Amino acid sequence: MADRFNTIAGWTLFSGIVALGLASVSGHYFKADKHHRPEKMGYEIEGVASEEGGKAEVSLEALLAAADPAKGEAAFKQCQSCHTINQGGANGIGPNLYGVLGDGVAAGRGGFAFSDALKGKGGKWDFASLNDWLKNPKAYAPGTKMSFAGISDPAERANVIVYLNSQGSNLPLPAVPAAPAAGAEGDKAAPAAVVGDAAKGEKAFAQCKACHTINPGGANGIGPNLAGVAGEAVAQGRGGFAFSDALKGKGGKWDDATLNEWLKNPKAFAPGTKMTFAGLSNDQERADVIAYLKSVK
Ligand code: HEC
Ligand code: HEC
Repeated sequence: MADRFNTIAGWTLFSGIVALGLASVSGHYFKADKHHRPEKMGYEIEGVASEEGGKAEVSLEALLAAADPAKGEAAFKQCQSCHTINQGGANGIGPNLYGVLGDGVAAGRGGFAFSDALKGKGGKWDFASLNDWLKNPKAYAPGTKMSFAGISDPAERANVIVYLNSQGSNLPLPAVPAAPAAGAEGDKAAPAAVVGDAAKGEKAFAQCKACHTINPGGANGIGPNLAGVAGEAVAQGRGGFAFSDALKGKGGKWDDATLNEWLKNPKAFAPGTKMTFAGLSNDQERADVIAYLKSVK
């Protein structure tokens, strides 16, 4: 019995050793096989397929827009062994980080003794440089004293950056660049690649019904009947509806782009308009409603 046990234990141990050996060999093999792409590629070029997943990379701006400072605060725990972030907080292994975004790189911070590596970078911390720094401090400033591996997940990095920004900096987030043309419909000015769903738009239109009918020949109410409004002249006809001068002054026709702007924020589109409706802030909902308006002739 004991013999048998030893044999089993022996084989178990042996296969473990073989597995380890294989892992190490394949590790070397695959490393040798890796492509070397420029550091920054991932976050700055839109719509480029990544090596890992094949899915399109998201721009830093878009990541920041979607980032959550509360999650960033939670992730900041991994920084707290070295950094305080409260206003006037003490320096530790690393400098206090209050208001660091927009501040000079490796400057001030209560006389913290920065490395020459980081001092040599110069300039100010902005969203892009913080993103590079937190991705891989040693790559950003070879020789830095910050012995922290970096945050590899772009979304987590964005969370941390918006959290840092909320602590004494409060810089406006960079604008999200328009996505490359989707090419499908040809409505160039329509919101980036958002495709509307008329059925969903019909549901969302419930919030317009207090003021608008949309059935062909329907009565005007607080607002004009909207049947066939897409493609028609702005603030014209509609059974003699008494439009505001503000909207009449716009001229032109309702196309996807003007409908989009109007429904996003009526008062910004036509200051002085009679349409007392805050607007649809959700891009998808707006696209849905526009698709619905277009479907009712
Ligand atoms: C092991 C300690 C340690 C950890 C963990 C650490 N840091 Fe640092 N950090 C430092 C040190 C040391 C410096 C100064 C680097 C130098 O002078 O080269 C620094 C510098 C910085 C700076 C530049 C400050 C300035 O005024 O230029 C920022 C920003 C920063 N850290 C953010 C972070 C964030 C965010 C995290 C967590 C995701 C983090 N650090 C994790 C030690 C650390
Ligand atoms: C509180 C009432 C109210 C609500 C709610 C409302 N509207 Fe209006 N709408 C108006 C009024 C009033 C006008 C005329 C504006 C003017 O003359 O300045 C108007 C004008 C319009 C026009 C321009 C019509 C034309 O012929 O030029 C469109 C398109 C429109 N609304 C769509 C919508 C949609 C879609 C919704 C829902 C997402 C909506 N409205 C919600 C009151 C409203």
